[in-house]
Amino acid sequence: MSVPFVDFKARVAAVRGELVAALARVLDSGWFILGPEGEAFERELAAACGAEDAVGVASGTEAIQLALSAVGVRAGDEVVTSPLTAAFTGLAVLAAGARPVFADLDPATLNVSPDAVARAITPRTKALLPVHLYGHPADLDPLLQIARERGIPLVEDACQAAGARYKGRVVGALSGIGALSFYPTKNLGALGDGGAVLVNDPAFAARVRRARNGGQTDRYHHAEPGINSRLDEMQAAVLRVSLRHLEAGNARRRELAALYRRELAGTDGMVLPAEQAYARSNHHLFVVRHPRRDALMAGLAERGIATLIHYPVPLHLQGAFASLGGRRGDFPVAERAAAEIVSLPLYPEMTDAQALAVAAAVRELAARRT
Ligand SMILES: Cc1ncc(COP(=O)(O)O)c(C=O)c1O
Repeated sequence: MSVPFVDFKARVAAVRGELVAALARVLDSGWFILGPEGEAFERELAAACGAEDAVGVASGTEAIQLALSAVGVRAGDEVVTSPLTAAFTGLAVLAAGARPVFADLDPATLNVSPDAVARAITPRTKALLPVHLYGHPADLDPLLQIARERGIPLVEDACQAAGARYKGRVVGALSGIGALSFYPTKNLGALGDGGAVLVNDPAFAARVRRARNGGQTDRYHHAEPGINSRLDEMQAAVLRVSLRHLEAGNARRRELAALYRRELAGTDGMVLPAEQAYARSNHHLFVVRHPRRDALMAGLAERGIATLIHYPVPLHLQGAFASLGGRRGDFPVAERAAAEIVSLPLYPEMTDAQALAVAAAVRELAARRT
């Protein structure tokens, strides 16, 4: 049985009528940028995420960049973040003019360790940027305590974590400000690129709204520099559909994760992702660890089962961040994880039979000694 990593055709088919109606509404409105769909989506998203406000932007990367700028990050500042994340997290820090400083991970969650974050802070640190990796929330309370004690704002990279909960509350703006991505593979996906800044402080929200639109205060009057990072009406209309299905999609992901956990318990050499007591993951990715990861992936590929590695190269070892001077050995937990992790397919449209076939193949391959 072949199992893709995601199945966009099935996802679209499940809501095709709603998508066509949403897109037709925009076509008929004759209004394509910064209009009623975007405004409605921002209201609905903020409500769903327990945030005061949400500002739609063109990508998760720019949502992070704009959030960092809004809290006051400027050229030459440092931002403490994770070395094991999408490179876009670090690239957003660079785009905000700042320097990413990495902090090693809690091996149980592969999210930043609060102790490592505290050690990475210097007088130049102007923001903390933990990532809710794979949709499992970082342990926010100790991180927020560090942020408060040091007087440093905390921006949540919730790009993978739409609808995930920390101690019962939806993540994204628990620190006051955070970023979401609507890249199509995300749990809350668009039919193209998109992102949002979730924000509780009206002054920060106003700043992000200006900055995403070139810094315009009035038409053709730019009081300050900004970028062009507007969420268009087509994507906003699509995202209103996706948002209606987010909770059901996350619930189905939870069922599949439970099935994997049950079927893979005790598998030779395998470490399964553990949900911490404080967390309710949105199961964006189901990432297991295995010492013979590459052989496992090859065996699964032979059986038509797609897997990916999120992420094979930690940021401090990526060419894009070479100027930061990172070396192998700097972040041992992240480096070891990068050599052992593999993401198994998990998406709401996946059948139990597909998940059982993946688990059976994984068990069989893991039991091999070579
Ligand atoms: C953790 C994380 N941060 C940032 C991003 C960037 O989001 P986008 O691709 O929407 O720019 C992504 C997704 O690619 C991500 O997974």
